[in-house]
Amino acid sequence: MSKALDGVKILDFTHVQSGPTCTQLLAWFGADVIKVERAGEGDATRGQLRDIPDVDSLYFTMLNHNKRSITLDTKNPKGKAALEKLIKQCDVLVENFAPGALDRMGFTWERIQELNPAMIVASIKGFGPGPYEDCKVYENVAQCAGGSASTTGFDDGPPMVTGAQIGDSGTGLHLALGIVAALYQRKTTGRGQKVMAAMQDAVLNLCRVKLRDQQRLERTGIMKEYPQYPNGVFGDAVPRAGNASGGGQPGWILKCKGWETDPNAYIYFITQAPVWKSVCKVIGKEEWIDDPDYATPTARLPRIMPIFETIEQWTKTKTKFEAMDILNKYDIPCGPILSMKEIAEEPALRATGTVVEVDHPTRGKYLTVGNPIKMSDSSTEVTRSPLLGEHTDEVMTELGYTMEDIAALRAERVI
Ligand code: COA
Repeated sequence: MSKALDGVKILDFTHVQSGPTCTQLLAWFGADVIKVERAGEGDATRGQLRDIPDVDSLYFTMLNHNKRSITLDTKNPKGKAALEKLIKQCDVLVENFAPGALDRMGFTWERIQELNPAMIVASIKGFGPGPYEDCKVYENVAQCAGGSASTTGFDDGPPMVTGAQIGDSGTGLHLALGIVAALYQRKTTGRGQKVMAAMQDAVLNLCRVKLRDQQRLERTGIMKEYPQYPNGVFGDAVPRAGNASGGGQPGWILKCKGWETDPNAYIYFITQAPVWKSVCKVIGKEEWIDDPDYATPTARLPRIMPIFETIEQWTKTKTKFEAMDILNKYDIPCGPILSMKEIAEEPALRATGTVVEVDHPTRGKYLTVGNPIKMSDSSTEVTRSPLLGEHTDEVMTELGYTMEDIAALRAERVI
């Protein structure tokens, strides 16, 4: 089967998480992704959070599938010459260096255009133009500066970061879309362009509903679906909403059977208006169906937390899976709190290729998250991440270097 991005060549100058997420997706769509790393060390994540001595970490392997790796010292004149050949042959250069690093290497946008006017240069930076544009940025900095941390957690606690890597992987996803759009536009213009995704911007994009709420708060002074209503206090900025659903249908996380010993024996429960009667029947509160204090969403909102406490008396008598089975029969929206252990063992996720077992020559078998985007005409086969410099000889040969040239460059530590 052909792949959506067959024939597209990516010069992958990315490292750590944000950029590699982007190029891994492009590789899964069929692009030839050539990852350029420094000889001897490579992407810093190869050695970070190692669980097996001297073996590429899971951090690295899980972000760099389906790529080729070459080592090249791009600050050495001979290395620069090889990089120029690569720039001429590739369609896209993707990088997430600290601001200015590519320019300092001698590869400004102008220089890259001279070498290949059709090249798309895609970058991730922490911040866009402005006061913080020169800052180095990691995941949680972006979560804090993008509005996520101030709106996550509970009202009486500090700002909270989330485990979902919305700053790194989230920005990588945004950049991948920009690259694909630029490749499409190039079909008519014939030109490359710069594509930039700032981590602060990507996080804010994912927190769009909170900027919506900021403006609602400024207009009305309260937000009825927030847990601060009706008895708490609203300030002048969107407060932390705990586990409130954030949409028009109230929801909360409730304890299930076993919660005393199992930290994940919980369920997310949504009191969607059309199934309110069913909720009342399931939890044995049929008298609420016609009670004016409970019969309408507006009547329920001021007493939604006591309502959830009553529902919890019922959920505590069921395991999260038993509750799911019962509630789904009535179309009551709910979701079990799944641990990573449960997700890793879930057969349905294995069957769809969302969780994949991969074999690696030095690590052995490990689990990874496969391509979450499924396409009927461009399937994804996840192949292991490359060892450092595994494809140096192959790629250098493709660039026209002889085996003697390659041996000489290796002796000079250029590759
Ligand atoms: N050959 C020679 N030099 C190379 C090279 C190669 N193959 N690959 C990288 N380098 C050099 C760079 O040119 C740079 O040199 P310079 O500082 O002299 O200009 C240097 O290696 C280090 O790059 P840098 O990006 O500064 O790495 P860092 O480890 O200091 O910082 C980040 C890491 C992630 C903080 C930083 O890259 C960053 O802010 N990136 C943008 C935001 C981002 O993506 N953050 C999320 C990461 S998950």
